[in-house]
Amino acid sequence: MESQLSPFDISGKVAVVTGASEGIGKDIALGLARAGADIVVCSRREEVLKGVKEEIEATGRRAEMYQMDVSRLSDIKGLKKFVLYRFGRVDILLNSAAFTVTKPAWDVTEDEWDVMLDTSFKGLFFCCQQIGSIMKTQGYGKIINLSSTFSRSIIPNRSVYGGIKAGVSHLTEALAAEWAPDGIRVNAIGPTAIRTPSRESLLQGKVLEKILSRIPLGRLAVSEDLINATIYLASPASDFVTGHTLFVDGGWIAAS
Ligand SMILES: NC(=O)c1ccc[n+]([C@@H]2O[C@H](COP(=O)([O-])OP(=O)(O)OC[C@H]3O[C@@H](n4cnc5c(N)ncnc54)[C@H](OP(=O)(O)O)[C@@H]3O)[C@@H](O)[C@H]2O)c1
Repeated sequence: MESQLSPFDISGKVAVVTGASEGIGKDIALGLARAGADIVVCSRREEVLKGVKEEIEATGRRAEMYQMDVSRLSDIKGLKKFVLYRFGRVDILLNSAAFTVTKPAWDVTEDEWDVMLDTSFKGLFFCCQQIGSIMKTQGYGKIINLSSTFSRSIIPNRSVYGGIKAGVSHLTEALAAEWAPDGIRVNAIGPTAIRTPSRESLLQGKVLEKILSRIPLGRLAVSEDLINATIYLASPASDFVTGHTLFVDGGWIAAS
């Protein structure tokens, strides 16, 4: 008999994860593997990716790695070819790769603007387009983008980041509407702060206190919170959910 939990089953699915060398991308890649998916891990640092690939293989699942710079469309096209060659299909795309600077808007330079937008917005869009085109051929697929609570709320020194994440949530809605006839579901996860290597030095002292004071449930997010949300959005359990940003934020947005 089918269990009530069967729709949450992602075993045997193929997932592509960008930004998989560390932090949220790595943790979710491992979480998806523990839930039974095979994973293609992508980022720039080959040596680090190798370690992640081995950790995934230790769960008993298949892992492949693809070294790429997500800000280059040619690399993303290469990823598409690689996925088709190695697996012949893709069920899940998790877009986690991003880059941001934390500084007053007055001080943001043109170079910083370009890197932030190219990595976190252009790269995400073209990953959706290129990997999504495989899903279009299949008539089914699940795309999950990393947005943030800062897509809907403000924090000092993160103006460009917040603008990009608002764009990610908007793009998620636009692509969900445009690609629904192709069977592609596009959703986003909006975490509150979580301790990752790129955030560790920020989440200290007064900044940490201020962030915690805005989270009604009284703690930062942890990887398991995001893994569980991703499994839901990656599985058939969420087949009627598209264009949604699921805030995994302990009530931050509700209280804002
Ligand atoms: N941490 C938080 O508090 C938080 C909260 C809300 C939302 N988010 C979002 O969650 C996602 C992950 O955040 P995070 O804190 O774990 O890490 P992050 O510092 O935002 O991203 C790091 C990952 O992105 C990859 N990356 C950066 N530039 C790249 C490029 N040009 N090409 C390919 N890969 C690139 C890095 O790998 P390589 O260096 O190996 O290329 C690394 O794996 C991001 O979208 C972030 O905005 C984070």
